[in-house]
Amino acid sequence: MAGAPRKFQSALYYHNPVRLVRMRSESNDSKTPVSKRVSRKIRVSILGSTGSIGTQTLEIARLFPDKIDIVALSGGKNVGLLEQQAKEFLPECVVIGSSEAGKGAQSRFSCPVFVGEKELARAATWERTDIVVTALVGALGLLSTVAAIKTGCRVALANKETMVIAGDLIQDLAMKFGSEIIPIDSEHSAIFQCLLGESKSEISRLILTASGGPFRERALNTFGSISKKEALSHPNWEMGPKITIDSATMMNKGLEVIEARWLFDIPQDKIDVVIHPQSIVHSMVQFVDGSTKAQLGVPDMKVPIQYALSTPSRWPASHPVVSWQEDQKMTFSSPDPIRYPGLLLAFEALRIGGSMPCILNAANEVAVHLFLTDKISYQSIPSLVRRVMDHCSEHEEFSIEARLESDRKARRVAEELAGTANH
Ligand SMILES: NC(=O)c1ccc[n+]([C@@H]2O[C@H](COP(=O)([O-])OP(=O)(O)OC[C@H]3O[C@@H](n4cnc5c(N)ncnc54)[C@H](OP(=O)(O)O)[C@@H]3O)[C@@H](O)[C@H]2O)c1
Repeated sequence: MAGAPRKFQSALYYHNPVRLVRMRSESNDSKTPVSKRVSRKIRVSILGSTGSIGTQTLEIARLFPDKIDIVALSGGKNVGLLEQQAKEFLPECVVIGSSEAGKGAQSRFSCPVFVGEKELARAATWERTDIVVTALVGALGLLSTVAAIKTGCRVALANKETMVIAGDLIQDLAMKFGSEIIPIDSEHSAIFQCLLGESKSEISRLILTASGGPFRERALNTFGSISKKEALSHPNWEMGPKITIDSATMMNKGLEVIEARWLFDIPQDKIDVVIHPQSIVHSMVQFVDGSTKAQLGVPDMKVPIQYALSTPSRWPASHPVVSWQEDQKMTFSSPDPIRYPGLLLAFEALRIGGSMPCILNAANEVAVHLFLTDKISYQSIPSLVRRVMDHCSEHEEFSIEARLESDRKARRVAEELAGTANH
């Protein structure tokens, strides 16, 4: 199947940013604009509060105690950190995804604790939550994001894999339940900001910037000896391990292209990627009249996280800002497809459409995990993804459950092809 757009309206309101301010009122009436209930703090639930995005979200909550109430925290295995976070932010509930790590944990918390991955949806739907920050890594984030959308709250979306697996279905759901999806990825936050007040029909191209990662200048003939430590050393961003490896292969940018396709309802042939090693321009939009709008700032994820919580307002910055008096060298170039095979694979999956982006994502998650556990080499990551894509046929599946089945199947195939399956 060609990657034909499914019929849905974009959940974004390019002409009417005011509609983006809708949040729940004290009486839980989603029609009441936030401006009418300034006396109440924004109730925020964090899925993945112990990770890189989760902890940075809490740094923002720490800076704005008059604006943010943390009502639910959740993590996987790091119960010690969850405990510290709960002592400081006094949430109304905590979810521990790992059943193993969560055993006997209730006694360490003064609020109700729920244990197991299925309970993540509880944090996503906690009562009167205004914003759910989805900062889980991988396909694990899909079901709890869906649960959050069904409550009609704002979803501050970091978990890009959700949009890669089922972006078309997610947008339909967001429209149906009146949920706003505000991107946290810095590129998508930039595009989101560039599009405010603009008409979709006047967009000519979306241009996502990429730092180029740790191997931008490394000799290609030395890629066979890339170590885990080298691949985990990103030059500009401090992030969780999975996204750091994805940034090196540029699968991360590929996943972001797919995310952008669905978030902004723009066909893939209007999406470009350029290498911009300084990570100052976070992304751009070119319009039909030849003008280009860009959003610029320091490479610090707290900026887009804060914006996803505050929009349509802007809260004062606590982080360093770009000093325009100093020399700012900014360069842009095209990515080399041999150096960055992940990008081409993602464009191909998007072109094939249907469940192929989901298959790509599942294969990549397995491959990155195998690399991080020393089972395969760096160069085997894209080659394993390629083999899984060749092996699994795409289906036109229009339900979340069917996509999850594709995800499970692609994982099994990846394990089998890598020779690491447990039979
Ligand atoms: N980091 C960034 O700068 C950045 C930038 C843009 C987009 N993103 C996206 O944001 C998402 C999160 O990335 P990250 O870098 O923050 O990842 P990360 O640091 O690895 O954090 C992942 C979070 O997921 C939790 N988790 C893992 N398995 C779980 C389970 N079975 N049940 C419940 N929770 C579980 C982890 O909990 P434990 O640690 O307690 O196990 C942790 O809180 C990804 O989709 C990524 O692509 C990240």
